[in-house]
Amino acid sequence: MAARSALWRTQGWINGSWRAARSGMTYPVYSPSTGEVLAQVPDMTPEDAQEAVQSAYQAQKSWAAATAKERSGVLRRWYDLLLQNEGDIAQLVACEAGKPLSEALTEVRYAASFLEWFSEEAKRINGSIIPAPMKGRRVLVLKQPVGVAALITPWNFPIAMVTRKVGPALAAGCSAVLKPSEETPLSALALAQLSVEAGVPAGVLNVVTASRRSTPALVQYLTSHDLITKLSFTGSMAVGKLLMSQCASTVKKLSLELGGNAPFIVFDSADVKLAVQGTMASKFRNTGQTCIAPNRILVQSGVHDEYVQALSEAVSGLKQGDPLSEGVNQGCLINITARDKIESLMSDAREKGARVEVGGDCNESLGPLFYQPTVLTHTSSEMRITQEEIFGPVAPIMKFDREEEAVALANATPYGLAAYFYSSDAAQIWRVGEEVEAGIVGVNEGAVSSEMVPFGGIKQSGLGREGSVFGIDDYIELKYLCIGNV
Ligand code: SIN
Repeated sequence: MAARSALWRTQGWINGSWRAARSGMTYPVYSPSTGEVLAQVPDMTPEDAQEAVQSAYQAQKSWAAATAKERSGVLRRWYDLLLQNEGDIAQLVACEAGKPLSEALTEVRYAASFLEWFSEEAKRINGSIIPAPMKGRRVLVLKQPVGVAALITPWNFPIAMVTRKVGPALAAGCSAVLKPSEETPLSALALAQLSVEAGVPAGVLNVVTASRRSTPALVQYLTSHDLITKLSFTGSMAVGKLLMSQCASTVKKLSLELGGNAPFIVFDSADVKLAVQGTMASKFRNTGQTCIAPNRILVQSGVHDEYVQALSEAVSGLKQGDPLSEGVNQGCLINITARDKIESLMSDAREKGARVEVGGDCNESLGPLFYQPTVLTHTSSEMRITQEEIFGPVAPIMKFDREEEAVALANATPYGLAAYFYSSDAAQIWRVGEEVEAGIVGVNEGAVSSEMVPFGGIKQSGLGREGSVFGIDDYIELKYLCIGNV
């Protein structure tokens, strides 16, 4: 575990101090790969959150009053510290999320890149001067922080999804109450420790932890609190809709990233080798547990068999095992609910005629959560596996004949986060790129994430964008200032 014991934090972080829950209650954080209890952390309730919100509210005004350069400097130091401690933090991520150590390290660097990016953007939150519509007036637009942000983050990227939200919030001059996933609070708490060392003032960042049982009440407290003016949430569509409705009474500004059902289309003109590489990068990253993972692989009949064979070979070559072991590139699922869901999707698909080419079962010799990397063919829209977010290492393949058929299938979902397609036909690239309904489109590319690009979905996949020059807007209010009689 973390060699630097200062990063091993098992209490909440409220108003500049480490706290147990007022009730004294704790809950266990498990390693999904071994089942062992890694730590006991506070099982907090609205009573604890009350102080976190108050302290965030008090601290926000002076944080916003600091110069942009000062806020930038703090974020930059936090970035440096995260990289200096990347090995220890990667171990924490690997242990609590069950992802291979090399991927955990990539995630820590990805997380750091958001702090670096937003330390730079902090200095570029420029307002505007608009030509006055009448003589004797001056018209300005100020960009001001939204206020106190509630940030609710998922377990699949326990550190990068935190910095992708906290980075722009703090850069803009907001303060934050962070509620990390109950599965992976340790990475977030280690990050809070580094924030102290970087100079984030007391109250500007607060971290409240809660068990699955206590989370709904804690979150409802945050989503209905009138001192909180912003909610950013990454998680399921069902929970996102619930939080959206909870925020309605206080009309909070919302950023929601609610997952996807990404199509991955391989056209006849595609370079099949490249398409297989792209599938491996996008589908099997984090053992299939990403919001932008391909959920339906649509392959044109001319290249279908070649693609299935090449993908099956590549998937058979994956090495699943203990996330901390050398050479392992597939970890485990996060919990038994995830395994149950995949098993139920798989049995529905099998009953309706899907064929397992590779995998198709749990690797019990490794542990109950190690679902094998799997390739399924003969899938159809009637199967739940092509309609629901799989969130696991299963690649369902559907055959199609015509481009219009593929685009219609791709768009036949309420989700609109990511889509991918492979083609070497320039006209088709333009056509499909414009027609496919998603906020993120990979064309002949399966690895599309970066701090420099806007991440977010359309349709019911969410609201707002994270990362990039656009990401700061989600934490900004525009104020129109009309100066008359000048
Ligand atoms: C996610 O799965 O929510 C995030 C994936 C990414 O940032 O690449």
